[in-house]
Amino acid sequence: MSQIHYHDYLQLDKILDAQFPESDKQNLSAHDEMLFIIIHQAYELWFKQLHHEVDSVAAIMNKPALNDNSPELQTVVHRLNRCVTMLRVLVHQIDIMETMTPMDFLDFRDMLRPASGFQSWQFKELEAKLGLKFDKRHGKEYYTSQLKSEHVKLIKEAEKNKSLLELVNTWLERMPLVPPVSDEKNSFWENYRITYQSSLADAEKENSKAFYELFLHNGHQTIDNGTRTISATASRAALFIMLYRGYPLLQLPFQLLNCLLEIDEQLSSWRYRHMNMVHRMIGTRIGTGGSTGKDYLKAAADKHYIFKEFAQLNSFLIERRKLPALSNEMERRLGFVHQ
Ligand code: HEM
Repeated sequence: MSQIHYHDYLQLDKILDAQFPESDKQNLSAHDEMLFIIIHQAYELWFKQLHHEVDSVAAIMNKPALNDNSPELQTVVHRLNRCVTMLRVLVHQIDIMETMTPMDFLDFRDMLRPASGFQSWQFKELEAKLGLKFDKRHGKEYYTSQLKSEHVKLIKEAEKNKSLLELVNTWLERMPLVPPVSDEKNSFWENYRITYQSSLADAEKENSKAFYELFLHNGHQTIDNGTRTISATASRAALFIMLYRGYPLLQLPFQLLNCLLEIDEQLSSWRYRHMNMVHRMIGTRIGTGGSTGKDYLKAAADKHYIFKEFAQLNSFLIERRKLPALSNEMERRLGFVHQ
């Protein structure tokens, strides 16, 4: 059997022969263009790895029955945590980009037009796989306006498939052991509602109505004319997980939900750091991709939180010591031992 060599295994011939600065082609020296190319290539490689992880997580979550005590849920959480770690690195990579000064950038900036990170189809496809739908995009059609048709197709395909957000919604809806809603006095959710209501300040009284709409209203339907993805059933399960996360059976589900919030936070940190870098680099000039530059990026950053419906649930927590007590039977079932 022939031995594989490091250089061939990593296809370094291709990767190391893929940097062709425009400034070299035009015989105009622009030292930092090499950094500019390599940093974008490094991002695209990490985007590829993120797709690899998110696809595998989606494949597991798409199975008809995912046991919350199974190694598969462990795998989901492990891989989502890896995504979070990669996103942290992507945020920090901006430090390297910022060693380039605006004057260094001007040496080659005009040669790039109209190329822009705005044309990163991997970034947009990733947003779609996670759960950013067309209707929720800033500027709607604009986000695909500068992509090649084959890349638009990929993104549209990703939008048609079940996103991670939708898969998590379905998984939460199937979640066993979450107390059902019932009209009976002393039912779990009625007790919870009363305790929650009494914890609200006068200025927060509207939250009580929101509580009803988010958690107690019709089972699997979503409110707000379908703009929400997380149904009332799934919202109750998510809240229950957050509240009782100390029980063994709920620990992995809690970590899963926490990963989603962390992914949003890291993506948002990237967007803000990228936006500030852009402001510092080109001021208020338009981007090479033709957008309003910083203003466009700010609007997209404000609007493109993917898992914000989960973050919103934190408005409905109550203090641990006021949590409704669970029955012995419930406590036993949420423990490690099932009988
Ligand atoms: C000197 C450095 C950079 C500048 C001045 C810059 C500038 C911009 C601008 C102005 C936009 C808005 C679209 C446009 O009109 O072009 C944009 C979008 C974007 N850039 Fe950069 N960028 C830089 C570095 C990077 C890097 C290193 C990446 C890594 C992949 C990147 C990825 C993106 C992405 C993904 C978008 C789309 C964001 C969205 O639609 O929300 N950019 N960039």
